[in-house]
Amino acid sequence: MTRVRTTRSEATVRIIVLGAGAGGGLPQWNCGCVQCAAARTGVIAPMTQSTLAVSVDGRNWALLNASPDLRHQLAASPALHPTGLRDSPVKAVVLTNGDVDHIAGLLTLREKTGFTLFATEATHQILSQNTVFSVLDPTFVRRETIALDTDFCPLPGLTVAAYAVPGKIPLYLEGEAPDVTMMGEQTIGLRLWSGDREVHYVPGCAALPDWLVSLLEPADAVLFDGTIWRDDEMPRSGTGTKTGARMGHLAMGGPDGSLARLRSLRGRRIYTHVNNTNSALMPDSAARAAVTAAGWEIARDGMEIAL
Ligand code: MLT
Ligand code: MN
Ligand code: ZN
Repeated sequence: MTRVRTTRSEATVRIIVLGAGAGGGLPQWNCGCVQCAAARTGVIAPMTQSTLAVSVDGRNWALLNASPDLRHQLAASPALHPTGLRDSPVKAVVLTNGDVDHIAGLLTLREKTGFTLFATEATHQILSQNTVFSVLDPTFVRRETIALDTDFCPLPGLTVAAYAVPGKIPLYLEGEAPDVTMMGEQTIGLRLWSGDREVHYVPGCAALPDWLVSLLEPADAVLFDGTIWRDDEMPRSGTGTKTGARMGHLAMGGPDGSLARLRSLRGRRIYTHVNNTNSALMPDSAARAAVTAAGWEIARDGMEIAL
């Protein structure tokens, strides 16, 4: 995809990183790894779980995913506070998959204020099969189905298109040997644009084929899966047995990692959905030095991005 850019339009896209962490957050309740310990002692900032807020007018906001920490995240973000007795600037929620860290926060949004919930048919099915989500009263919460590669407008002035990225079904639906690089509705990336500003949000991605690199290249900003630094960091650190590949997350480092694969990006490049095991969280690590040298930022809770 190529774009000819002449003069920049006035339109802006505003993003607030409500939660930069992956599932479990930082520190994770049961984890004593280097990064979790550093977060407990104030050496590095804690992170809540994976959610962004996006707006074009500063008044109406869409949430991209809804983390289990959403109640706290909304309270911590003045732009998302109610402006009247019972209302909310949150007008829409867009889900990129059915993982716990992306859907559990929907339960926080159950108190009879209207919004539209956008998800693929596959993700909507997961929600309808879990009857606890029927607390989202359909009188107030409209469920809209996202068709892949088809534009939709979660907010006036903001257009979004979802595309399949390599990934897997949620952990709690896995069988014996799940396909971890499946292409379909279960894991999507989002292209968001307003006027000539374009941003991509891809919090979970198992591989970076050439077509995806080309799609991301011209964007003003890319917020990409920063779960892990090394594919084997969980087994190596003793925090778990799974590799990144097994979890459906491409590592940042290594010859085929996202740092190497995405070196041709033109706009801001920001890692988000960062797992607590990721050594790039430590300011003095070799991983952080490599990330910074390649022009990447690591998202943090409360970070604001204006394009
Ligand atoms: C993931 O991103 O791999 C999942 O959120 C893991 C999980 O469900 O805990
Ligand atoms: Mn996750
Ligand atoms: Zn940890």
